[in-house]
Amino acid sequence: MGGVPQGSRDGGNPLRQLSLDQLRRRTSHKWREYPDDVLPLFVAEMDVPLAEPVTRAITEAVALGDTGYVAGGAYPRALAEFARTRWGWDGLAVDRTALMPDVMHGVVEAVRLVTGPGDAVVVNCPVYPPFYTFVAHAGRRILEAPLGADLRLDLDRLRDVFRQARVGGRAAAYLLCSPHNPTGTLHTADELAAVAELAGRYGVRVVADEIHAPVVARDARFVPYLSVPGTEDGLSLMSASKGWNLAALRGALALAGPAAAADLARVPFEVSESTSHLGVIAQTAAYRDGGRWLDALLSGLDDNRRLLAELLAEHLPAIRYRPGQATYLAWLDCRALGLGDDPAAVFLDRGRVALNPGPTFGTGGAGHVRLNLATAPEIITEAVRRMAAAVT
Ligand SMILES: Cc1ncc(COP(=O)(O)O)c(C=O)c1O
Repeated sequence: MGGVPQGSRDGGNPLRQLSLDQLRRRTSHKWREYPDDVLPLFVAEMDVPLAEPVTRAITEAVALGDTGYVAGGAYPRALAEFARTRWGWDGLAVDRTALMPDVMHGVVEAVRLVTGPGDAVVVNCPVYPPFYTFVAHAGRRILEAPLGADLRLDLDRLRDVFRQARVGGRAAAYLLCSPHNPTGTLHTADELAAVAELAGRYGVRVVADEIHAPVVARDARFVPYLSVPGTEDGLSLMSASKGWNLAALRGALALAGPAAAADLARVPFEVSESTSHLGVIAQTAAYRDGGRWLDALLSGLDDNRRLLAELLAEHLPAIRYRPGQATYLAWLDCRALGLGDDPAAVFLDRGRVALNPGPTFGTGGAGHVRLNLATAPEIITEAVRRMAAAVT
């Protein structure tokens, strides 16, 4: 395939440093799910080398045989400092954090802390598909509160669904995806304050999945849910996993507002203890020393969002794409192409490009696909070329 990166170390942009041949040697899900003639732009892995501080930290740990059980402390302190410098939030209390094996297991634990079996968990569809499966695994019931047509929170619908969730006085949780996967929507402080007000009014407990928090446009700022007034009984899950591509080096932190501290204290020892020590070493290094690498990544992603918008406007103008201000995911409305509910199947079969099928993201996902922008510009260009060829 012409035009793909040859592994040049271009201007420090981590998205331009690995060739397609190098990437195809990877054995992770993104590179093993499909045969080599398919360009994979689906699962949320990034086509980047590890940030040098992370490589150094885990290399030193391995050289030392430092591969025992996890110890707390450094990880939440590194996140607290990152939150202070990146988001201007100095309210992250290290003593109101708990280690989690990863974000989704943290979500399950948090939901279990604040609801009982069969209670409702509200989500804003279309949303990250494991929200459905993990909530079901936790023995809770999903209630959908769709995003508005502008892909932002629809507070009126949220209010109605909160009311419905609490019928009969049952406990209920709201699993907020902030920033939102798949749309890349970055919630504002005002929106989050309105969420907190509604949750307080209806007695719904908020669990914020903030895994994508480090990945925002260079001119935007992420607002941590627990930094917003009125969120005292909220819970949040954070991780360096998305920002630095550490899914194989798993780890996450659950954070509690002051009024949720007693809930968080009920997290069983067995859960926190299951967190990977090596994962925590990697994640701590990312938060503590990975800021410059992250900035270079974010600039590259800004360029990629612009590039995708330009390419689609030129080659596939029927596809509607509103670049979000966060995540490295693009949510593409393909309904005008007339490809049915699952355009990803067509792009895979005829174009040999793997995207995430919209219907798996719940109500509102039909006719859409999710495209992973965390790759080289040349690969995005080739993907759009193939997608256009698939429908002409
Ligand atoms: C919103 C969201 N939550 C959680 C995860 C997965 O996190 P983990 O691998 O730490 O469970 C992802 C992965 O893409 C995600 O997008």
